Amino acid sequence: TTRPDAEERFYDFVVVSNRLPVDSVVGGDGRQRWTQSPGGLVAALEPVMQSRDGAWVGWPGQADLDLEPFDTDGMHLVPVPLSALEVEHYYEGFSNDTLWPLYHDVIAAPSFHREWWDTYRLVNTRFADRTAEVAAQGGLVWVQDYQLQLVPKLLRELRPDLTIGFFDHIPFPPYGLFSQLPWRTQVVEGLLGADVVGFQRDADAGNFQQAVRRLKGYATKGSHIEVPLVDTSPGVRVYGPIKRGQASRTVIAKKFPISIDAAFYREAAARPDIRARARQIRGDLGNPKTIMLGVDRLDYTKGIRHRLEAYGELLAEGRVNPEEVILVQVASPSRERVLSYMQLRDEIELTVGRINGDYSEIGHQAISYHHQNYPRDEMVALYLAADVMLVTALRDGMNLVAKEYVASRFDSDGVLVLSEFAGASDELTRAVLVNPHDIDGLKDAIMAAIELPARERESRMRYLRKRVFENDVEKWSSGFLHVLVHHHAIVASASAS
Ligand code: G6P
Repeated sequence: TTRPDAEERFYDFVVVSNRLPVDSVVGGDGRQRWTQSPGGLVAALEPVMQSRDGAWVGWPGQADLDLEPFDTDGMHLVPVPLSALEVEHYYEGFSNDTLWPLYHDVIAAPSFHREWWDTYRLVNTRFADRTAEVAAQGGLVWVQDYQLQLVPKLLRELRPDLTIGFFDHIPFPPYGLFSQLPWRTQVVEGLLGADVVGFQRDADAGNFQQAVRRLKGYATKGSHIEVPLVDTSPGVRVYGPIKRGQASRTVIAKKFPISIDAAFYREAAARPDIRARARQIRGDLGNPKTIMLGVDRLDYTKGIRHRLEAYGELLAEGRVNPEEVILVQVASPSRERVLSYMQLRDEIELTVGRINGDYSEIGHQAISYHHQNYPRDEMVALYLAADVMLVTALRDGMNLVAKEYVASRFDSDGVLVLSEFAGASDELTRAVLVNPHDIDGLKDAIMAAIELPARERESRMRYLRKRVFENDVEKWSSGFLHVLVHHHAIVASASAS
């Protein structure tokens, strides 16, 4: 399609992410419609974009869809098309079968394919080109997540006038794992194209800095990295520290823990219709004494198997009475054409079937399992209905479900069981913290959560709520953008003088 110049606008603020906040899906009737995109990234950025007059550059979630820019829900969206082969190599392949498992502690084995890498580079170039077309002179661009790690450098080359931020929503792996990546140096160079590189945890920022030191030899001090303006000529593999008098730019790499629109959850949870729906859910589940809840994308990083194993053993040992307790597991469909996700689904559904076969009665299930997506209001009702929330990720950048649960509990009741391997555990320290690999420990934690006295529940939940409301998504985005703008101003004035 052609894009008439007259219609093209320029934006002072541009967010770039693999996915747009809406996904184009074709229904069973063959008709196209838009749905809200899955995952924490979109959930966090949507309120940020609705409050700013910026553009959002991203893929509309379906192959071979070439659309003009359009507006929705108060946001300006600039679609980037991907062919079916690009979806396979760049999205399902390199992003979700190479980087995703590598960056999540190789819980699944990453695959390394040179064709996937070639497509990753090509698609990153397309995102950078499209962003360069819509960003205003001197504008601010904020690139998101592991699918687009080459964009900061590509964009800087095209548009040195821009201020460029990058935020990594997922963990950044320790060097011992990261160094497996055949294209590790190019990835580090791509990220160093940004002025500020943000991470979820201190550990992630530290791992990135170590990769920079090991692969590029650049000096790091605190959160600052000195990047020489003229790199050692290509082909020369030995990089050295910056020599005296050599011109350099400073890149900041530090943590900015992401959050949620906490007020939305508090207000939704207080609504009479949603509270009524929570009571109805409880009734429909047979008014059990304890409702436990898991809410995850169906992903091997989320520790759903470990959770089911622990619950199954508690039932087998009679520590949990299936007439009193129910586990509601929402596993939303994700990356369904990637083999490791198909295998995981089979394993989980086999286990759910077995546990239900052994312990469910007619009219009462041990596990209420849903491979579905629910609207946000329904999620809030579920959070309100749940006495115990199980977040047992084996590795997770942040985990916003944990924060959504806390923000929804305006009654200061409910117990959060939270994995130490989720970024959220840095802040939510008064959750019942668990190591999900330790099945006995996990079982004890689940029992402790079920039996926690009301006063203890309240005191813990009050603390957790304070942390979530003090650090909501507005604080995350304004904190990041403040550092970005401030840093850029310092760099600009230093290079002018
Ligand atoms: C995580 C990632 C996001 C991603 C989301 C959903 O939250 O950090 O970048 O968008 O999962 O995954 P999907 O592959 O469906 O975009």
